[in-house]
Amino acid sequence: MICDNITSKDGILYFAGQNTVELAKKYGTPLYLMDEDKIREKCRSYKKAFEKHFGPEAQPLYASKANCFKRIYEIMAEENMGIDVVSSGEIYVALKAGFDLSHAYFHSNNKTDEDIAYAIENGIGYFVADNVEEVKAVEAEAAKRGIKQKLILRLTPGIDPHTYEAIATGKVDSKFGTPIETGQADEIVEFTLKQEHVILDGFHCHVGSQVFGEDIFERAAEVMLEFTAHMRDKVGYTARVLDLGGGYGVRYTENDPYLDIETKVGQVAEVIKATCQRLNLEVPEIHMEPGRSIVADAGMTLYTAGTVKIIPGYKNYVSIDGGMPDNPRFALYGSDYTCLPANKMDEKRDFECSIVGRCCESGDIIQEHVMMPSSIGRYDTVAVCTTGAYNYSMASNYNKLPRPAVVMLKGGNENYLVVKRETFEDLIRHDL
Ligand code: LLP
Repeated sequence: MICDNITSKDGILYFAGQNTVELAKKYGTPLYLMDEDKIREKCRSYKKAFEKHFGPEAQPLYASKANCFKRIYEIMAEENMGIDVVSSGEIYVALKAGFDLSHAYFHSNNKTDEDIAYAIENGIGYFVADNVEEVKAVEAEAAKRGIKQKLILRLTPGIDPHTYEAIATGKVDSKFGTPIETGQADEIVEFTLKQEHVILDGFHCHVGSQVFGEDIFERAAEVMLEFTAHMRDKVGYTARVLDLGGGYGVRYTENDPYLDIETKVGQVAEVIKATCQRLNLEVPEIHMEPGRSIVADAGMTLYTAGTVKIIPGYKNYVSIDGGMPDNPRFALYGSDYTCLPANKMDEKRDFECSIVGRCCESGDIIQEHVMMPSSIGRYDTVAVCTTGAYNYSMASNYNKLPRPAVVMLKGGNENYLVVKRETFEDLIRHDL
């Protein structure tokens, strides 16, 4: 199986030690499952690797855009993780979960004045300023309040992460960050240092997501450290913090490699230490912002199959009771997924089909070329693995489908609701 929390027994699929068919019956479908133990295990691997390689100050921050609801912020607080937030909405949810915002880093390439005011009001730890305009806006808001606001600068190191285009962000031609190559990074650092109400505490980069490339993070770290040394030599400013963003890839299918977090962090650490030595720099406080690699394989979505359509000589379709509104990733990126017949795990899988949603749109596909048992049909439970990242957080109400519930699984036998299934009433909540 693609992850150690997926097993089967007597023809039934188990996730995090629990019978998925029973869970589908208990909570209904479509249903998002989240494995709390797996989330905590991933947080702990990051914490342990950071502590081992960079010391106690170094910080993994959970990129909460990957999956954002109150309970996840509670878990992050309990695991002593910092967080990366990207909107006032995410800040609001974190606050409602009682998360201490001094451990939060506020991203995004276009924070409004209202966002900035809201974040400062609620004690945001850091802004990650994307561009000069944002530095000016944070300075103005901080000046109004007579405070000094900590901030780090998002720079683009000019690195191609070799992932799909929509989630590659480290190249010079990107809407994110201020490029090093064009000299604009020099300018923004010099500009920020002149501001009275912001404290420049370091640099940030994020090269992309679902990254498997051997040396991508290492190269990004080198470019960032060279820039750090360059600014030290040019203006006498040495960045205290270096944040390398998120991006480690996860296994969606058996073809994807498995990345061991401790090994990967160790490899980056070696390059950072060697580069710092070469440049005569003290090793900065290192941060990373993993999202997907913390929650992706802690998630699974359960659906109930409906119509099976066989078009001889063409293709077979198995329709499920969800689709692109709860998982838009195939439609957007052509993402791979592993789909399993949850109540027929022991049957031979010799029926090739596309697993498709129930929306009025041909692009509403979860996965193509899936092998299912030929008996698959109405009332069977279909599981889609590795849906813990960027599924619930990207879900919509397209075709007025209510968003599914999120259920947390724990300790091999406990399960509890963390987000209720939307009702029809929710669908008209804002209609006048
Ligand atoms: N830090 C920054 C600044 C980011 O922009 C992101 C992701 C992360 C951290 C977390 O990256 P991760 O560890 O999750 O790869 N919706 C797309 C992914 C978009 C990623 C956006 N930024 C998808 O479904 O694949």
